[in-house]
Amino acid sequence: MAEIKRERWGTRAGFILAAIGSAVGLGNMWRFPYLTAEYGGASFVFLYIVLLFLIGLPVMTAELTLGRGSRRSPVQALSQKGEQSWHWLGYLFVLTGFGILSYYSVIAGWTVRYMLDSLTGILMEVNTGEYFNSISEGQDALIYHLLFMAITTGIVLGGVRKGIERSVKLLIPTLFFLTFGLAIWAFYQPGSMEGYRFYLAPNWKNLLETYTLGGSSFSFLNLNMLAAAAGQTFFTLSLGMGAIITYASYLSEEEDLFGETLIISFSNFSISFIAGLMIFPIIFSTNLIDEIGDSTIGTLFVTLPEAFQKIGGWWGTILSFFFFFCLMLAALTSAISLLEVVTSTLIDEFNISRKNAAAGSGLAIFLGGVPAALSIGWLDLADRISGQFLLMVGGFFLTIYIGWVMKSALDELRRGMKFNAIPLWLFLIRYIVPPALLALLLTIGWELPEKIFNFLTGS
Ligand code: PHE
Repeated sequence: MAEIKRERWGTRAGFILAAIGSAVGLGNMWRFPYLTAEYGGASFVFLYIVLLFLIGLPVMTAELTLGRGSRRSPVQALSQKGEQSWHWLGYLFVLTGFGILSYYSVIAGWTVRYMLDSLTGILMEVNTGEYFNSISEGQDALIYHLLFMAITTGIVLGGVRKGIERSVKLLIPTLFFLTFGLAIWAFYQPGSMEGYRFYLAPNWKNLLETYTLGGSSFSFLNLNMLAAAAGQTFFTLSLGMGAIITYASYLSEEEDLFGETLIISFSNFSISFIAGLMIFPIIFSTNLIDEIGDSTIGTLFVTLPEAFQKIGGWWGTILSFFFFFCLMLAALTSAISLLEVVTSTLIDEFNISRKNAAAGSGLAIFLGGVPAALSIGWLDLADRISGQFLLMVGGFFLTIYIGWVMKSALDELRRGMKFNAIPLWLFLIRYIVPPALLALLLTIGWELPEKIFNFLTGS
């Protein structure tokens, strides 16, 4: 394998910002609230936090280790000396990135649309539920999907550093403060307490599910909910598909990988958490709960405009515009990291130019996203297949590789290390994460074919 000279991040902050840029996105603002609504609130949030510690953090450290240790894009990172048989895992990452971006871009397209509709004032007048239904699938959704993919591709064409590093610095704090401000506004709305109860006071019974086996029934942890929470930790931290590996391949040796893990994960978590503090009080104070019940996937897009309408006037319009503008940018920095995985792999594997690699994959992903733009049912399914199942498959094999196969992992981790979390990390990555993921994968894998079948046959 030819030695390739890798670009390095300009500064340590450059890497952190890019990784946070990848992590923070629709996963925090759209996916987290929608899953929380779907799985009944606080008990889901509780599971999500537990799994963040048990699975999310160790896997994040693992990806940083592999990326920095190899200085290669995922496919090549996984095919180093004598470890050739793991090559395919890199291809799985590319496939997953392709799958996720194809529908992610459709949702990001909705944010572009909402941003423009804030400006024209349309969003301030509509019935938000009906409006969401009318724009979330069909020709319009397709056009905005195209627009968003074109922007993403354009940026990735330009190279690694330019664009990515710069935009995040301003964007993430702005998004944070806007959300925070709206959360405070929501607090003062009548009925908001109901929302906090739903979001923060777990109904522990919710964690259990009744299963029947051989005629007798028993209660056990709700495995579907557990799998959704685990999938969300992967999705929201950009794990399981090589995005973090790719970014970490540009990282220098002085960095403390445990420290980086904590910074990235904590920033990401706080954004999701305040997104919930903003959304659930609004849902309950505007009595949207029934409307949302039918299609939790639109939770964010149905709820927020209601709030902006209530705020009303210039303020409502301006806030609405800025909010969707920031959200669109946050989605963009995540989309860039998804496309970067596909592109850098094509470059490293086939020796083609960045231009051709980015343009080719951008176009293919746009086409791959057409069904999701035309049918929200398909989008939902694609999210379950790529955004949950495939990420967890990737994460499962990755932890096996790093915990049991990669010989240089511990040495790599020690470089720049400031506090020794290796024993704990190794324990989790070897004995906790793989069996937990395997169990959850079997659970989802069991039901996925049925879901696909039901979707295809329209039942
Ligand atoms: N983490 C991103 C988000 O929350 C999505 C993403 C998933 C990005 C996987 C890269 C890889 O929006």
